[in-house]
Amino acid sequence: MSVERALAYLAEHQERHVARLCDFLRIPSISSVSAHKGDVRRAAVFVADELRALGLRVELIEPTNGHPLVYAETAPRPGLRTLLVYGHYDVQPVDPLALWTSPPFEPRIVDDVVYARGATDDKGQLYAHFKALEAYVRQGIELPVNLKFLLEGEEECGGPGVYRYTEQHAAKLACDAVVVSDTGLYDANTPALTYSLRGLAYCEIRVDGPAKDLHSGSYGGAVQNPANALAGIIARLKDAQGRVLIPGFYDDVLPLDAAEREAFRSLAFDEAGFLADTGSPATFSEQGFTPLEGMWGRPTCDVNGLWSGYIGEGAKTIIPAHAGAKVSMRLVPRQDPQKIGAAFAAHVRAVAPAGVRVTVEILHGAAPVLIPRDSAWMRAGLAALERGFGARAVFIREGGSIPIVTTFQNCLGAPVLLLGFGLPNDNAHSPNEKFPLANFRAGARTVVHLWEAAARTA
Ligand code: BES
Ligand code: MN
Ligand code: MN
Repeated sequence: MSVERALAYLAEHQERHVARLCDFLRIPSISSVSAHKGDVRRAAVFVADELRALGLRVELIEPTNGHPLVYAETAPRPGLRTLLVYGHYDVQPVDPLALWTSPPFEPRIVDDVVYARGATDDKGQLYAHFKALEAYVRQGIELPVNLKFLLEGEEECGGPGVYRYTEQHAAKLACDAVVVSDTGLYDANTPALTYSLRGLAYCEIRVDGPAKDLHSGSYGGAVQNPANALAGIIARLKDAQGRVLIPGFYDDVLPLDAAEREAFRSLAFDEAGFLADTGSPATFSEQGFTPLEGMWGRPTCDVNGLWSGYIGEGAKTIIPAHAGAKVSMRLVPRQDPQKIGAAFAAHVRAVAPAGVRVTVEILHGAAPVLIPRDSAWMRAGLAALERGFGARAVFIREGGSIPIVTTFQNCLGAPVLLLGFGLPNDNAHSPNEKFPLANFRAGARTVVHLWEAAARTA
C-alpha cells in the first residue's frame, strides 16, 4: 500500500522533480578546476538543503582544503535495516566545449532526455534517491528503512576526503548495506546490478633530453630525442595482440571463469551499436577475448595523453627538450594498484634508452572490486531493478572505477549494491552528457522497491 502511494506521488510530481534536477545540473561543480571551488560548495549546499527540507539531520563537513562532504541521516528507528547511500555531486570538466550542442550547464530536454554535464554522472542518478525519499516524507509514509547519506564533491578529482572520513567514522556510517547509483544499465531495455569494477593505476612518464629545444639539423644525430625515446617506451608497453608487456602484470589477475564468460556471451553484445556510439572504426581487444571481456574482466594499459615538441602549423625543425605521457592501467580483481604502479615504473626505466632522463610518477590508484553475487542483498537489488524498470535485470561488470567502494567494504563490512540508472551511451566524461528522464523516473521507483525489499532482507 505504501509502495503504491510512493509510486503515485513520483508519477504525479515528475515534472517538478525534473525542473529541480535541472537546478542541480545548472551548478557547474567541476571539482578538478580550482576556479569552480565555490560552485562545488554550492552543489554541496544544494544537496544539504534538499535533505534538510526532507527532515533529515544534515552536516556540511568543510575540509581545510578540498571540497565538502555532506552527511545526512533520518531519525534512526530501532529494528529497521539501515542503508547508506553514497553519491557524488561534483562533475567532470567540460572540454572540448566546442563539441557540445548546447551549453553544459544549461540543461536542455529533448525527447525526454536531459542534456547537461553531470546528468548521468552522478547528479541525475543521485537525485532519484532524493525524490524517492520525498515521496515518503511529503505523504507522511513511514520509511521502511533507516537512511544515511554520504555525498562527496571530490570523486572526479580523486580527492582524499571521503576515504579519510569513512575510515575515521566507521561506527557512525554503520549500515546493513551501501547503495551506490553511479553505474548503469546493460542497455536501454536491460537494467543491471554491477558486481565488479575495475581498479586503476594512473602514471605519468616524463622524458627530458636537452635543456632546450635544439635545431634538428645542427644537433640531430648527436643527441637522443625525448619524443622518439618516449615513443619507444610506449611501444614496449603492449604488443600487437593487445597483451601488456610489463613483467608480472598478469601475475595476480583473477581469470574469468567459464560460467562468467558464458554469462557475458548470453548478454548479446550489440557491436554495430557500440561502433555507432563510440565512432571507432572497429573493436579491438586482447587476443582471445571478446569486447565485453576486454572491458569488464581484463586489465588494460592505455595512453591517456601524450605531448612533445612542435604541434603548430607547418614545419619547425627541432629536437624537443621534453616529452611526456599519461598512462592508465585499468585493473581487475586481485591486481594491486601499488604493485602494478611499481612494476610499470620498473619496466619503463628498464626499456628507456640511454641519453635521456626518464621519470615515472604514480598519480593515483584504485583497487578493483568484486562483489559476491549470491546474497540476499544482491537478489533484493535485482528484484528492485526489475520492478522499477519493468524489465528483466542482469548482473554485469563495469570497466570504470569507483574507488570508495573498496573502503566501504573494508571499513564498514557491509555489502555494496551498485545499482545504476545510466545508459552506457550517456556520454559520461564526454561532450553532450545526457540522462534519459525515463531512467530518472525508473531509478526513483527502483529505490522505493529497494527500500521495501530491504526491510525484509536479512
Ligand atoms: N561513475 C564513474 C564510474 C563509472 C565509470 C561507472 C564507467 C560506470 C561506468 C565515476 O564517476 C568515475 O568516473 N570514476 C573514475 C574514477 C577514477 C578517477 C579513479 C574512473 O573510472 O575513471
Ligand atoms: Mn560517477
Ligand atoms: Mn565520473
